[in-house]
Amino acid sequence: MSDRDELVGPAALPGEDRVDASLRPRSLAEFVGQDRVRRQLELVLLGAKQRGQSADHVLLSGSPGLGKTTLAAIVAAEVGAQLRTTSGPAIERPGDLAAILTGLEPGDVLFVDEIHRLPRQVEEVLYPAMEDLQLDIVVGKGPGARSIRLDLPPFTLVGATTRTGLLSAPLRDRFGFAAHLEHYEPAELERIVRRSAGLLGVDLDAGGGEEISRRSRGTPRIANRLLRRVRDYAEVEGDGIVDRAVARAALAVFDVDELGLDRLDRRVLEALCNNFGGGPVGLATLATSVGEEPETVETAVEPFLLRTGLLQRTPRGRTATAGTYAHLGLPAPRPEAAWTLPIDEVAPGADEA
Ligand SMILES: Nc1ncnc2c1ncn2[C@@H]1O[C@H](COP(=O)(O)OP(=O)(O)OP(=O)(O)O)[C@@H](O)[C@H]1O
Ligand SMILES: [Mg+2]
Repeated sequence: MSDRDELVGPAALPGEDRVDASLRPRSLAEFVGQDRVRRQLELVLLGAKQRGQSADHVLLSGSPGLGKTTLAAIVAAEVGAQLRTTSGPAIERPGDLAAILTGLEPGDVLFVDEIHRLPRQVEEVLYPAMEDLQLDIVVGKGPGARSIRLDLPPFTLVGATTRTGLLSAPLRDRFGFAAHLEHYEPAELERIVRRSAGLLGVDLDAGGGEEISRRSRGTPRIANRLLRRVRDYAEVEGDGIVDRAVARAALAVFDVDELGLDRLDRRVLEALCNNFGGGPVGLATLATSVGEEPETVETAVEPFLLRTGLLQRTPRGRTATAGTYAHLGLPAPRPEAAWTLPIDEVAPGADEA
């Protein structure tokens, strides 16, 4: 595990899962931000509750750490139902799913994390279960095999995915309500950091909260994690109070820069600018130059850089932008077109400019 995983990646430090869980909002009212989704979900859940029915199936999509698992638990809590949790990769065969579905009690909320990773044959068993509360299972093998149909208790499926694009259309269509979580605004993150500081008993002032949320990449999980690192620093190096200066000093120690970039993010951008003249350069070449797998760079580094405009993806490869040079404090490359145009199109004297 590299240091980026600990601070900005999906994995938590050992033991911090527990802290993470303790910071989870337990109701829609406690859930900060995502106002549109919150309002819509409230209507879906209250409507069902008033009719005394289980709520429609809910699909939650969005980047890691934005609150999908949190919302799944909130769905169950808001309708007063029991939450059962599993994940796409954990359900390998149709029989695994059948066992889960037949074990449900009326009204249960079944949370399937990473639902885009359900095997296809499992998905096909899920369709009639979602639509008609019917489970078709095959018993026996060979010529004696027969299909039997079981009735299921009413339940609400909550699916979560970081990759809606990978979900098959028939599965997507069977969710009555689909919500996409966006990254959070700095003001929302500040509220989240303040709330977490309160729960953790951290003495945080406005400047400290602002400094942490600005570097949290629009992601509550990262905000909470940075808060814990800043708290460590404040307790060891100071009197435990987190103000702007303490937050800045702490985040410098943990290599989180002004925009929330970590060491690996910066190494990728520096390689792009210093070794490849700002690109275009292919992903594999760029990844090799920083000693990482292309997949790591593509999934763990690039999304944030693309979102902030510090990197561009073009048909010919990755390129830097003016903002990249500015952020790294590097001189911008010469703007002349001399090295991109064929020789005979270069205006006379252009290379002397
Ligand atoms: N809207 C919010 N308000 C307050 N805290 C939040 C909010 N959303 C998320 N969090 C905090 O962020 C942490 C991460 O959220 P969560 O685990 O729900 O993300 P996720 O979308 O399920 O991520 P992943 O895709 O990695 O599973 C939670 O522990 C919770 O404390
Ligand atoms: Mg989750």
